[in-house]
Amino acid sequence: MAKYVGILTAGGDSPGLNAAIRGVGKAAHGFHDMHVIGFRDGFRGLMENRMLDLDNSALSGILTLGGTILGTSREKPHRMLVGGSPRDMTDVMAENYHKHNLDVLVCLGGGGTQKNALRLAQKGLNIITLPKTIDNDVVLTDTSVGFDTALSVATEAIDRLHSTAHSHHRMIVVEIMGNKVGWLALGAGIAGGADVILLPEIPYEVEKIAEAIRRRSHGGKRFSIVAVAEGAVSKQEAEALAQKEGKDGNGKAKNKAVDKADDGERAEARRFGNSMRLASRLEELTGLESRVTILGYLQRGGTPSAADRLLATRLGTACVELIRKGQSGVMVAARGDGIKTVSVEDVAGKLKTVPLDHPWIAAARRIGTCMGD
Ligand code: F6P
Repeated sequence: MAKYVGILTAGGDSPGLNAAIRGVGKAAHGFHDMHVIGFRDGFRGLMENRMLDLDNSALSGILTLGGTILGTSREKPHRMLVGGSPRDMTDVMAENYHKHNLDVLVCLGGGGTQKNALRLAQKGLNIITLPKTIDNDVVLTDTSVGFDTALSVATEAIDRLHSTAHSHHRMIVVEIMGNKVGWLALGAGIAGGADVILLPEIPYEVEKIAEAIRRRSHGGKRFSIVAVAEGAVSKQEAEALAQKEGKDGNGKAKNKAVDKADDGERAEARRFGNSMRLASRLEELTGLESRVTILGYLQRGGTPSAADRLLATRLGTACVELIRKGQSGVMVAARGDGIKTVSVEDVAGKLKTVPLDHPWIAAARRIGTCMGD
C-alpha cells in the first residue's frame, strides 16, 4: 500500500535542512510506494493547507542550498496567530493531516519543534522528528543538523578577527549565537583560539575577565579575543534573573508564565547588545581599546558543511526506514556513525546545556582560556 508522507521545517532555519528534506524524499521515492508532500512555513502551512509536491524535480539541486525550500516559522500549533489573536489550531492541523491521507508527518526542528510535534502526536497524528539547530541544544542526540556549519563559520570569523585585533592592539568581543546554551561559542572559541569564552552556563565576573586580559597585556600580548555567547550573563544578572523568575534550587522555573518571561528577557538582552555593554566595561577596566562584532545570522545562512550534508542524509534516509517499519512518536537521533530512535516525549521540553564538567570546558581551561569565573 502506498504510504503518504508529509514533511515540514519549523523554528529558526539552519544549514542542512534541504539536505535532510532531500534525504527523506529521495529515499521515500526509492521505495516507489511513498508520496511526499512538504508543508510551507512550518506548522502554519499545515494549518493553512499550503503545500507542495516533493517529487524528484523539487528535490533536485537542493543538497548544497542553505535555508529551507519549504520556508519556516516559529509559530506554535496551540498558539497560532489567527485574525490577530493566538488560537489553538491543533485540531485544524489534524484535519489537514487526514485530508491528505498522511501516514506520517516528519517535523524537522529544534527544541520548540519537538514540543510542537508532541502536541500533534497527542492528537493522534503519527509523527517522526529530526533534530536541527545551530545551537546544538536538542537532548539525546550527539549533534543536530546545522551545528557543524555554524561552528565553522564562527571559527573562521574568530580567525579573521585575530589579525585585525593583533594589528590594532585591540580587544575584540565577538558575539556568537546561543541564547540559552553555549555549545557554539565554546566550540568556536576553542577552535578559533579565543582568550576568553563566556557561556550562559557559567555566569561571569567582569573583573575576572579584565584580570585575564591585563595578564595577557603584561605578558606582551596587546590584543585579546573575547568570544561571548549571546545568552551569557554576569553573576549579578544571573542572580537577578533567578530571583525574578522564582527559580527553584536547580535553576528550573516554577511555572510557565515565568518561562515565557524568561524568553522575553533573554530576547530583550539579545536585541539590546549585552556584548556592547561588556566591551565598554572591559575597556574601562583594562584600558585596551575595544570593538564588538556580532556574527548574528551569518552563522545560520549559506551552504551546509560536508559533515552537515552527511548527517542530514543519514538522518533523513534512516527516517524513511522507520516509516517503512510503521514507527512513529520518535526522533531520529545521531549516535556515533549510526542513528538511534528516541521517544519524542523524552526530548520535548528539554534543553541540552553544556555540562560544567564537559571535556570541552576542561580542554579550554587547560590551555589557559578564561571562562569568566
Ligand atoms: O536557531 C537558534 C538561534 O540561533 C538562537 O541562538 C538565537 O537566539 C535565535 O536562533 C535567534 O533567531 P530568531 O531571530 O530567528 O528568533
